Amino acid sequence: MSKFWSDVVHKLTPYVPGEQPKLDNLVKLNTNENPYGPSPKVLQALKLEASESLRLYPDPNSDALKAAIASTYQLQKENVFVGNGSDEVLAHVFQALLKHSRPLLFPDITYSFYPVYCGLYDIEYQTVPLSDDFTIRVEDYDQPNGGIVLPNPNAPTGIPLPLAKIEQLLQMNKHSVVVVDEAYVDFGTESAVGLIQHYPNLLVVHTLSKARSLAGLRVGYALGSAELIEALTRVKDSFNSYPVDRFASAGAIAAMQDSVYFQDTCRKVVATREALMAELASLDFEVLPSGANFIFAKHQTLGGEEITAMLRQKNIIVRHFKAPSRIAPYLRITIGTDAQSVLLVKALREILSQP
Ligand SMILES: Cc1ncc(COP(=O)(O)O)c(C=O)c1O
Repeated sequence: MSKFWSDVVHKLTPYVPGEQPKLDNLVKLNTNENPYGPSPKVLQALKLEASESLRLYPDPNSDALKAAIASTYQLQKENVFVGNGSDEVLAHVFQALLKHSRPLLFPDITYSFYPVYCGLYDIEYQTVPLSDDFTIRVEDYDQPNGGIVLPNPNAPTGIPLPLAKIEQLLQMNKHSVVVVDEAYVDFGTESAVGLIQHYPNLLVVHTLSKARSLAGLRVGYALGSAELIEALTRVKDSFNSYPVDRFASAGAIAAMQDSVYFQDTCRKVVATREALMAELASLDFEVLPSGANFIFAKHQTLGGEEITAMLRQKNIIVRHFKAPSRIAPYLRITIGTDAQSVLLVKALREILSQP
């Protein structure tokens, strides 16, 4: 608290990101990063960018990056907005498209940045409870609202929603913006991008932090009708003209263009996920279905906080959420390499066999 702070700052409850420990030799399975490095073509593009041209500002419109993204999804540049990580893109989405007189709706268990943006921009919201099996029931969103935002697959559960359900949601909500945050979509969830041409109120948000292994570069984007994209551009141009720097742009273009490396990496992560799910089931964990690069699992007897602390003593970090209480028994485990899975399973076996 300080007399120098504005009223807004006094009222903020900021988002708490997962730990980025400074220790070496950790098995880091807590922030859903990709265990594989970015495409070698990205590294090459970054080296080329380290040149005298850095004295110049980057393109404020990120035209080349937008073109690379648009061509990946057979869309036009006017359907693409880019920003400094999808968190920044989402922040603009909340301010530009989700602040209305009726409340914004999102699940009660979801990406915990959503209520933080509402606090920052003074947006009224209402949470919609997940069903008992942690799935999103789209029928529950059939109520007056000023917009809807949900991740697909959901976070931190990892549960995917079939495309038909997203379309049902869009059918029910033609008069407000529906934002589908597809941060983890490439690990086996159906994308809603194909619906953009039929629904001018649909905005799909993606990140290069997960499937494209570029969490450190900070690039995210939104796809939608030109009308929605223009709203985001108006906010961006009232905030920061150059959110995507020259490195981020060069690296992201190379990443979008290397579809072979991208598909190969996703395939490996999905295979490791399926194998790990089977191992955990054999250790008496209940694992929720996952269409993401992480799993959400609870043990039949040991608590989530307890296991997280014991894994930490063995230099393995996973994420645990204390609240809401319904998810407190669970651990969110990022999918690493096969070798990291072996270390995790070995550590869990030791923890569970302790008297
Ligand atoms: C559901 C969801 N959306 C968006 C993000 C933000 O990703 P980034 O800002 O790295 O693009 C995350 C990050 O973990 C996430 O879990």
